[in-house]
Order: sequence, then C-alpha cells, then structure tokens
Amino acid sequence: MFLTAPKVEQLDRQVLQNSIPRDLFKAIADLKKDLNAVILAHYYQDPDLQDIADYIGDSLGLSQAAVNCQADVIVFLGVHFMAETAKILNPNKLVLLPDLDAGCSLADSCPPDRFAKFKAEHPDHMVISYINCSADIKALSDIICTSANAVAIVNQIPKDQPIIFAPDRNLGRYVIEQTGRDMLLWDGACIVHEIFSERKLVQLKLSHPEADIIAHPECEANVLRHADFIGSTTGLLKYVQNSDRQEFIVVTESGVIHQMQKASPSKKFIPAPPNSNCACNECPYMRLNTLEKVYLAMKNRSPEIILDESIRQAALKPMQRMLEMSFS
Ligand code: 13P
Ligand code: SF4
Repeated sequence: MFLTAPKVEQLDRQVLQNSIPRDLFKAIADLKKDLNAVILAHYYQDPDLQDIADYIGDSLGLSQAAVNCQADVIVFLGVHFMAETAKILNPNKLVLLPDLDAGCSLADSCPPDRFAKFKAEHPDHMVISYINCSADIKALSDIICTSANAVAIVNQIPKDQPIIFAPDRNLGRYVIEQTGRDMLLWDGACIVHEIFSERKLVQLKLSHPEADIIAHPECEANVLRHADFIGSTTGLLKYVQNSDRQEFIVVTESGVIHQMQKASPSKKFIPAPPNSNCACNECPYMRLNTLEKVYLAMKNRSPEIILDESIRQAALKPMQRMLEMSFS
C-alpha cells in the first residue's frame, strides 16, 4: 500500500521530465493561491503533509473547518470518507483527494446493503453513525458523531429511544460504558487501532513508569483499560499540552505525535507498539497521500470527490444534526 520501488522510480522520472518540480512546497503554495484553495489535513498524515495544511484537526474539527471555509477548492489530506464529508457539506466546491485509494477499513466494514437490512430489522431504533463511514451509510443514519462528541450526542437522546450505533464496535462499547445506554452495535473495526498489543503496552509502561498512557476510543477494551486518558486525536493533543507529565505512551496512529512534539518540544512521546515487528503504528490508507500526489491533484484539479445528489442530501441531514448538537 506504500509507494513501491517502481512508483518511486516513476516519480523520479516525472521530476526529471519537469512534470514534478523539485521545490514541491513552493509549487503547492503557488497552486494554492491560483486555485483559491484551502488545505485541510488530518493528524494521521505524514508530517510533511501536516506542515503544508491551513488547518489540521480531528474529524469534528475538519468538518467544522469545511463548513466555514471560503475557498473555491478544498484539498483534503486524509481518507476518502473525510473528503466525502467535506463534499457533503460543500456541494459547490471542488474537493480534491490526492489518492482516491485512501480508504478506511472501518468504513469498509459497513457495506450499505447489509446495513440497510440490519436497520430494517430494527425499525424502532434511531441510527447514530460514527463519521468514519461512507456517504451511503450517512444517508441511512439519523445523526452522525465523531470520537470527540459521541458520548455527548448519545447523552442528548431520550433514554427510552433505542439506538443502533455503527460502524465501530470499539467506540460503541466505549460510549455504552460512558453513558450507560444499551445500544445495538454494528460489528466493524479499524485495523490500525485493533492491532495494539496489550502485552507490549504493559511492558512499555513498566519501563516508563512515569508516563501517562493516552489512547483513542477505537482501541479494544483490553488496551483502553490501561489508559490514563481516552479521547479523539484533538482531545489527546490538548491533554498532553495541559498535563504536567513529561512522558506519554501514545496509543493511536503515530502521525499525531508530530503536532504533540511541536506543541510540547520538551516532552517525550512514545508510540505504543502493535502486534507486529513494527515499533509504531501507521494507517496504510492515510499514508497513501504524498506531497507529489498533492501537487499533481492541485495541478490537474483531479482526483475529485463526486457524489450522487440524492445521497448527498440524505447524508447532509444527519451531519447537520451533529453540528447542531456539538458544542466545541
Ligand atoms: P479522530 O481524529 O476524529 O479522533 O479520528 C481518528 C481516526 O481514526 C480517523 O480516521
Ligand atoms: Fe480508517 Fe483506522 Fe485508518 Fe482511521 S486509522 S482511516 S479508522 S483505518
């Protein structure tokens, strides 16, 4: 899923043929002016990509930034469902995603036909969907939530209203624990957050006893039970900035450490290890975007996100409900 050797050679050839400039940072800044574009990036992007963004955020912050932006073009540095969300909110803007293959295992774990059947089997249930899902699933939902506002949104629903929560079983279970609500969970998960090793995490804590463990709620329960703080990526970033602690074991995609280190240069951030030989945990979808692809997408005004208008309108309603119900 990462750039393979032939693809790197292909990019080198393009540089030699002058189709990719050597100073990509300047070329992207020039194109940004020409296009009247805004660059929105998620924290799981490569540091280089985070550094060219006008706004970096979690899914809630990125949705709010997409609503408020005045640009003609949104260059979305994240995965497909995020760029799709920007398009749902901005039908008249050109929304570019540098690599259309930047998908999401969690969104893929909830196919619309199966979900529609599941929903039809529970007609008295309200559907609350985590934003990490396709536009088709959003269109089948009553309210969207993110990891930053899921607990607050569920808490605003009348206690006697049965709820289906989709697609992340881990976030769903965490919200059940926090709210005491008995929700029906769709059985989806994120491949990145499910492969953290509890055994290695405990070993790491033993060798760094002063470190706080901070984790994303997409992790499994056996990992979350060791966490000193659980939150969205922005929540984790704020926590480390406000904490007196000097060391943190970070149990989420390691890209978020770039902003943590920038905001708190004297503090130490240790990525939690996955169940593999790798030392840290990167999302293979997020990391498909590269500076070269950003440049080419802006130069060619493609690949762009295109949505069926009836799906977009149906997906907009639960998005708007979320934005109305969010206070941050
Ligand atoms: P947040 O940044 O909203 O916490 O989401 C994390 C994530 O997995 C995005 O794909
Ligand atoms: Fe999807 Fe997980 Fe990657 Fe986020 S980290 S984009 S939920 S696969």
